[in-house]
Amino acid sequence: MESAEISRRFLRFFEERGHTVVPSASLIAEDPTLLLVNAGMVPFKPYFLGQRRPPYPRAASVQKCMRTLDIDEVGRTTRHASFFQMLGNFSFGDYFKADAIPFAWELLTKPESEGGFGFAEDRMWVTVYLDDDEAADIWHRVVGIPVERIQRRGMADNFWSMEVPGPCGPCTEIYYDRGPDYGREGGPIADENRYLEVWNNVFMQFERGAGGTKSDFPILGELPAKSVDTGMGLERMAAILQGVDNIYEIDTTYRILDRAADLTSSKYGRDHRTDVSLRVVADHLRAGVMLVSDGVAPSNEGRGYVLRRMLRRAIRNLRLLGAGDDRYMHALTDTTIKALGEQYPELGTDAARIHTVIDAEEEAFLSTLRTGTAIFDAAVEETKRAGRTSLAGAQAFQLHDTYGFPIDLTLEMASEAGLAVDEEGFRGLMAEQRARARADALAKKTGNADISVFGQLLELAGRIEFLGYDESDSDSEVVGLIVDGASVLAAGEGTAVEVVLNRTPFYAEGGGQLADRGSIRTSDGAEVEIADVQSPLAGLIVHRGVVRTGEVRVGADAQAHIDVERRRAISRSHSATHLVHAGLRRALGESAAQAGSENSPGRFRFDFTAGGAVPVNVLRDIEDEVNEVLVNDHEVHAFHTSMKEARQMGALAMFGEKYGDQVRVVEIGDYSRELCGGTHVARSGQLGLVKLLGESSIGTGVRRVEALVGIDAFRFLARESVLVAQLSEQLKTPREELPERIDGIVTRLKATERDLDRLRAAQVLAIAPELVKGAEDVNGVAVVIHRAPDGTNADDLRKLAVDVRSRFTGDHAVVVVLAGVPADRPVVVAAVNEAGRRRSLKAGEFVGVAARALGGGGGGKDDLAQGGGTRPEAIKDALDAVDKAIRLRIG
Ligand code: SER
Repeated sequence: MESAEISRRFLRFFEERGHTVVPSASLIAEDPTLLLVNAGMVPFKPYFLGQRRPPYPRAASVQKCMRTLDIDEVGRTTRHASFFQMLGNFSFGDYFKADAIPFAWELLTKPESEGGFGFAEDRMWVTVYLDDDEAADIWHRVVGIPVERIQRRGMADNFWSMEVPGPCGPCTEIYYDRGPDYGREGGPIADENRYLEVWNNVFMQFERGAGGTKSDFPILGELPAKSVDTGMGLERMAAILQGVDNIYEIDTTYRILDRAADLTSSKYGRDHRTDVSLRVVADHLRAGVMLVSDGVAPSNEGRGYVLRRMLRRAIRNLRLLGAGDDRYMHALTDTTIKALGEQYPELGTDAARIHTVIDAEEEAFLSTLRTGTAIFDAAVEETKRAGRTSLAGAQAFQLHDTYGFPIDLTLEMASEAGLAVDEEGFRGLMAEQRARARADALAKKTGNADISVFGQLLELAGRIEFLGYDESDSDSEVVGLIVDGASVLAAGEGTAVEVVLNRTPFYAEGGGQLADRGSIRTSDGAEVEIADVQSPLAGLIVHRGVVRTGEVRVGADAQAHIDVERRRAISRSHSATHLVHAGLRRALGESAAQAGSENSPGRFRFDFTAGGAVPVNVLRDIEDEVNEVLVNDHEVHAFHTSMKEARQMGALAMFGEKYGDQVRVVEIGDYSRELCGGTHVARSGQLGLVKLLGESSIGTGVRRVEALVGIDAFRFLARESVLVAQLSEQLKTPREELPERIDGIVTRLKATERDLDRLRAAQVLAIAPELVKGAEDVNGVAVVIHRAPDGTNADDLRKLAVDVRSRFTGDHAVVVVLAGVPADRPVVVAAVNEAGRRRSLKAGEFVGVAARALGGGGGGKDDLAQGGGTRPEAIKDALDAVDKAIRLRIG
């Protein structure tokens, strides 16, 4: 029975019994105690706890779930999957044990022809919680299970909780006896491999507190109502109903596994290592595709890290299977989308975005791997040479810091190479780096000043009044001066100084808006030119500059004056940023959340989260819409309100930003509404023109738009126009025909390059007959060892090796080893035919021998292998070494 049919039957059964069928919630848990949904009941938690009124008394669902604790176990055992689906029926204060148990029994044992799952009654066993006589009684008296097949178990097995605070209660589990081939007699307490758990029925009755262990945790009290939460793993069910041995072999998963085997020319079921890799690939692709579909983007923390780890482990395992640098994630993502598409049609509609995210991660990781693996190999060699058994913390740190190797990848690769890693040393260095980064950030924003100086000033002067929303000049008083990090009473001409005024029109850099510039003049004739303004502590504004004339003194009356042109240009950029933010949200939806911005005079950049590139036509539409808002000249309006109200109004806020109780909201007509402390124009028409320059990636899942505003935007367009005129002139083509013309040129160029490639390859292959003729016979084996001319690329070397090999008749053993230097690094390729392999000749082994001599690594399969190194001067030695190795084998 197909997975999709199992789901359908389950839901239909419970729908017919008064349950509302609820679609799966997103894997991204709303529950703050959980990273990802890990059980079918998670979306219903508030109903069990009585925090929210359930809209229906009974429900049934197929919930997407992820468990990532035992990610390392995936594939090694056949019971662990990271992504899985839970079929469940739920009662919220409605029915209890007396109905739940017969429901489960009926569905499991009803013949398949009648809509059930057709389990043989005499193969079913159940467990109940120690003192749950009520459940045991129902099983025995109502259902008719003999007492010897009802076992009692303690807290660890038969009392279910989320392992975090939430609802909990005793449970009864239903097991299926797979038969004596799978293990010992004696029921689930004797052997959980032979007796497979298929369904767990939890009788939710209590609320669990924090802390404790799986078998001993605090119970806070009873729930408002007795409820039912059941969970049946779809994958496990499918394995039984499809008569396969494990969850990787069920319909939906095996398709992916099989495709991976096909792509990498490996075979499932032959050796454990290959099997583990294929299972990891299949499992992690399922998990990866489902996470991306739910809006998770690869990153270095939280859910993003879970996703990144999965995708990268899948890619690594593909390489272990022999994928080399070939990209298979696209094809496998495609298979995964198709395999799960019947149950999750949204995968099909969202396929383009899912591909973009996964392809980008593969690209990023492969390039990381390329550079990092060489460094890693060198570190392993050095460690082994020095007789150590553990990779130094500093080496792991360098791999992480410089080459982006996640620590768990280093751990995994080290363990494959038989080494441990000094994790403590690594963590120490990470901590040091973080401390350094913090110190740097502080130094950058606050000079070298001891932060306590600012604290004292703030205490002395109180909160500084910011006048700059309405004023560009102010009458103020100098309340503090800092020179070289120390508080002073006066500063003379030429001194770099930090000035604190009691009130100021100067905007301190913040919220993406750059600082104002300008000057401060005191009544006694001193002038300080201000180049930067920072707010090192909330409420304090510090002007940084140099005393140009006179001596500035604490207590002096002062006039502060900002550079109004610069401020206006910055304000224009800031208002434009809000408009583009609103436009992006409208076009891309909620997921386009602000991740940072910088508003400078005449231009701005805006960073936001997105799974993939924003298509050019979407950007063009946003630009168009924003410019329409300018033409319509909306009023810009700022006001203060409570955070709660701002939220209700739907004001956009930057994710993770901290705001006090009172917040400032800036509205531009009814197009944009955003929390913001920055300065803005009065009407949108003042922006003149906004030109988006384009969009790019600045890290996985984060995109950046850059744009020009006002006269800068106009000048840019004017320059572009001139450029097009020049091109049109040079190519003697009217403007509107330029794209076509350039297309033509590029196509012709590509065709010419292809022809060249073909000619070059033909030239390389032309020497095949000569190599065959020159083959040396060593004990009945034809041996061809040859150095190709420099510049021959690896592809051509491979083709030549295969060609030469094929020119010998089937029963004539042959080994071909070719070396060359395509660019600056040597490459070696070996090919052995079937008859050669029968005589124990292995291509991978000879490549290994040569590559070592070349100062590198490599290997591969017995029939064809490739490797390389860093020392082109050693090619002759390498080929000699191979020659010796071959003779040793057949001598
Ligand atoms: N919550 C229980 C489990 O996850 C039953 O759904 O096993």
